[in-house]
Amino acid sequence: MKALILSGGKGTRLRPITYTGAKQLVPVANKPILFYTIEAVMAAGIHDIGIVVGETREEVRAAVGKGERWGVKITYIQQDAPLGLAHAVKISEDFIQKDSFVMYLGDNLIKDGITSFVDEYCKSDANAQILLAHVPNPQEFGVAQLKAGRVVKLIEKPKDPPTDLALVGVYMFDSTIFEAVNSITPSARGELEITDAIQYLVDHNYKVQSHIISGWWKDTGKLEDMLEANRIILDGMETSVEGEVDEESEIAGRVKIGKGTRIVNSCVRGPAIIGEDCLIENAFVGPYSSVNDRCIISASEIEHSIILEDSQILSIGSRLEDSLIGKNVKITKDSKKPKAYRMMVGDNSAISVV
Ligand code: TTP
Repeated sequence: MKALILSGGKGTRLRPITYTGAKQLVPVANKPILFYTIEAVMAAGIHDIGIVVGETREEVRAAVGKGERWGVKITYIQQDAPLGLAHAVKISEDFIQKDSFVMYLGDNLIKDGITSFVDEYCKSDANAQILLAHVPNPQEFGVAQLKAGRVVKLIEKPKDPPTDLALVGVYMFDSTIFEAVNSITPSARGELEITDAIQYLVDHNYKVQSHIISGWWKDTGKLEDMLEANRIILDGMETSVEGEVDEESEIAGRVKIGKGTRIVNSCVRGPAIIGEDCLIENAFVGPYSSVNDRCIISASEIEHSIILEDSQILSIGSRLEDSLIGKNVKITKDSKKPKAYRMMVGDNSAISVV
């Protein structure tokens, strides 16, 4: 069995972060989302992995390499334009050949992994298996209709959803999917839809089975979802302090502090993670914060936020929360005092708050 991880796409819902970087490389608890995906695939016993890449291919290649770190073999598959999930499958036929494969959207996180679903599919005689989850907002997803457990209809982002069963971003296929992706035509939004390809399988009497998952999963395509994913991962984290903490500082709860980081006269209240070579001085880092390498947080308070590498938060008057701060961002104090900061700021920005 092979795996196909989709790491192309436009990432419009995470702009401006995605103007300068791949959304699949945004870290959750200081680790790129894509790495969780690779680890889940590897844990399911799959070592031959194709990664579909688009405009951000160089960044993805630089981060993932050939896969030696995980002991897997990575093949990059270039998608010249983000023409849909089924298009990504279509251009991967040379890589997949006659194998069956698991397709995993590189911005999705499934906390308990995919091993049991892959095993279930391998033991079955189904041509395809999809994962479904009950969601409160099915109009934002591909939605499935079932009859006696079998999939009968799939609709992409329906205005009037027939069920609340959303497609989770992990699919298992055998090579009949290539017949489907080579037969369908682009949808109204100009994409080859995976829902149309699976519907093709259903309509041509191929067996499509579904599994309704009950565990936590997240499509991290939006800021709120990214912060929720960060919360869930931090909740399961162990304490480890490798940096220096001075006597005036207080570390409470589950906290990870990387090498070369100095905590000076500050309070870090977990669950929280601070990367390597950071300086946290006269500051409060509150629950559900992920601060990446080489950041400075000085005379400021942050909570429930993700701060990417090389950023600085200096002397801001109010607590920063619910925020995703890009790389190399500088936020400094200005004269006026608003009560809260809620921001989504792109890489290399410089902001002076009032
Ligand atoms: P989406 O989140 O559906 O699409 P997107 O990345 O273009 O984002 P947005 O809707 O915010 O503009 O894509 C799901 C995953 O599949 C994501 O990891 C990107 C990847 N993808 C491809 O690799 N190729 C594609 O053609 C598309 C549409 C998505």
